[in-house]
Amino acid sequence: MKIAVIAGDGIGPEVVGASLEVLEAAASASGLEYQTTDFPFSAAHFLETGHVLSDDDVATLRGYDAILLGAVGGLPNDPRLAGGVIEKGILLKLRFELDQYINLRPVQLYPGIQTPLAGKTAEDIDFVCVRENTEDLYCGVGGFVRKGTPQEIASQTMIATRFGVERCLRYAFDLATTRERRHLTLVHKTNVLTYAGETWNRAFNEVAEDYPGVETAYHHVDACCMYMVTKPEAYDVIVVPNMFGDIITDLGAAIAGGMGIASSGNLNPDGAAPGMFEPVHGSAPDIAGQKVANPIATIDSLGLLLRETGRIKENKAAVQAGERVGAAVRATTPKFAGKSLDRSGYATDEVGKMVIDAL
Ligand code: IPM
Ligand code: MG
Repeated sequence: MKIAVIAGDGIGPEVVGASLEVLEAAASASGLEYQTTDFPFSAAHFLETGHVLSDDDVATLRGYDAILLGAVGGLPNDPRLAGGVIEKGILLKLRFELDQYINLRPVQLYPGIQTPLAGKTAEDIDFVCVRENTEDLYCGVGGFVRKGTPQEIASQTMIATRFGVERCLRYAFDLATTRERRHLTLVHKTNVLTYAGETWNRAFNEVAEDYPGVETAYHHVDACCMYMVTKPEAYDVIVVPNMFGDIITDLGAAIAGGMGIASSGNLNPDGAAPGMFEPVHGSAPDIAGQKVANPIATIDSLGLLLRETGRIKENKAAVQAGERVGAAVRATTPKFAGKSLDRSGYATDEVGKMVIDAL
């Protein structure tokens, strides 16, 4: 398996470093043959060279089976990075160009991890968000009229194509059939977003007919935020458009123990291009270089990388290595009992070693 590694900025290289040690251990335990190649794409690289990510770079990355990404982004108020040059230029460019139309974000409270939700346990918080990843407000459709004048007009358009919505819904229904509860909730805001919402809702009901074994529900996104806090056990699989998915998955990370644990995969489920696996957290410049960042989110994303890519490429050793990583993360997390995952008190490498021991 050929893995492209974009360690990125801030804590990215630290959490990726720990994850690559876990990869080595998991691969040798499962007989997985792999090679990694480092790529420098990051805010730091841009500031040094003026280069973000070219079409040639994307073509090169296509030659890999998967991409592991730490975090990209510099200081929030750096004027040289204004306008989302890194976010749009690296993350979104890769998601769009590689047609990674699913952003898979598990929200699972592992044993021993503390949730800020009083009285909720691992049994109550165990769902997966299927976030559409190539449409919606992320298309960059819009613009200014009379910019800089008192009559300035800004527009930003939400895109929902039947094709894009339906392929995302089918992925979510398929995923729901693999889970014990077989329950899928569509999250939108159909009472206000009456065009995009209707396309989603109509497609949801039509696709549901092909999945009689999956129980369905619909929640408005504002109500979903409330239920995620008051009764997270309502959810098994959530399917959600890009922008709302961005927002509710930060909430999901928070209820599952924080950004230190939240993993994600940007998937091209058809295998037409590599997936990109990354922690939900960013580059955290405030703690960069201190080696205190928790690598669990990246290690868990690595496990997802191995399982998903292994499944698509029919590589059993990779799937097995990924299952080992997932199990080792679960076995390690009770050691964080009573601690904040974001500031666990363990050094980054120490957590990596704990996972390798469990593995
Ligand atoms: C995420 C991030 C990105 C997004 C940003 C950095 C562009 O918030 O992965 O959730 O909005 O998708
Ligand atoms: Mg986000």
